[in-house]
Amino acid sequence: MDSISNTNYHIHFQQESYTQLNKFIASKQPSCIFILVDENTMQHCYPVFMPQLETDARIEVIEIDAGEEFKNIETCSGIWSVLVELGCDRNSIMINLGGGVITDLGGFVASTIKRGISFIHIPTTVLGMVDAAIGGKNGVDIGHLKNQIGVIIPPEMTLIDSGYLRTLDKRQLLNGSIEMFKHGLIKSRDYWQEMNQIGDDYFSDEFEKLIYESVVIKNNVVRSDPFENGPRKALNYGHTIGHAIESFCLSSESHESLLHGEAIAAGLYLESYLSHLHTGLSTADFQEIENWFKKLEMKLSFSESDVKNMLELMTHDKKNVNGEIRFVLLESIGSFLTDQTVPEIDVIKSFSML
Ligand code: GLY
Repeated sequence: MDSISNTNYHIHFQQESYTQLNKFIASKQPSCIFILVDENTMQHCYPVFMPQLETDARIEVIEIDAGEEFKNIETCSGIWSVLVELGCDRNSIMINLGGGVITDLGGFVASTIKRGISFIHIPTTVLGMVDAAIGGKNGVDIGHLKNQIGVIIPPEMTLIDSGYLRTLDKRQLLNGSIEMFKHGLIKSRDYWQEMNQIGDDYFSDEFEKLIYESVVIKNNVVRSDPFENGPRKALNYGHTIGHAIESFCLSSESHESLLHGEAIAAGLYLESYLSHLHTGLSTADFQEIENWFKKLEMKLSFSESDVKNMLELMTHDKKNVNGEIRFVLLESIGSFLTDQTVPEIDVIKSFSML
């Protein structure tokens, strides 16, 4: 698979990833290589990764607890302290080996320690490969509010080796594939249809090809608008409601926490309903999206007061302007509009579709 270029970094695939990584390390001669992992990637991915690394440089491994609830400034603070204790300098590099939490948080830590050191993302989940590790967004949550603190700084390179997917269970694999469906919904009807045909064979050559195409779609959007002043907002399709559902479930004792992709799947469905009401998404397209969502068999139900809480959470969405909730909505599958406002009553009504 050919490498993909962004303005100032590359995305490499499969074995070429390690060739490029070793070349970069040989030319940079880093004073230390810090490898950030969580307890899962330490156990399952680190032993796969290490034999690929060819270097005499000092290596230090930093392990954090796994899970979105640790994607916060306290975890960063702990890592910053460890980096300083271990003699991190501006010629050090950081390799973030893990899912979206590791690459978001590790990228932020690396971008800020000593005013910024080089970092490399090696995503080990579908979500990381097609979304979190592409495009330079790094950051952490405040409480249950997602990604409130962060920077847009690209990694030195992102390395995608689909072999790591074999360390994941079906729920995790489905979780990441939701962002792939989203890429189809905003940018390509053909890709959306291909995704609908693939089923759940996540280890096939076809799925590997779909990951590649998803990275191409995301990378093209990011290249056209790296700092999210316009079209990059489309990547947040489904996320206004989806993030609110995710944050609400994380903080609610009466609702089980959802994985990011699961909450975004519901967000995609409900925002398709809003698109059907307000931006001309046809009945046929809406029904296709509805059928897709219903097949996921997610059991979600929210009371009136839950929905009120989620509306309050939506007021913190980063796309809002003057406190007004701004949605990305679809005109049709493959075509979007940004900065859309809709009456609050319709957002409330959308939840009754679940
Ligand atoms: N995950 C959305 C973006 O990278 O813009």
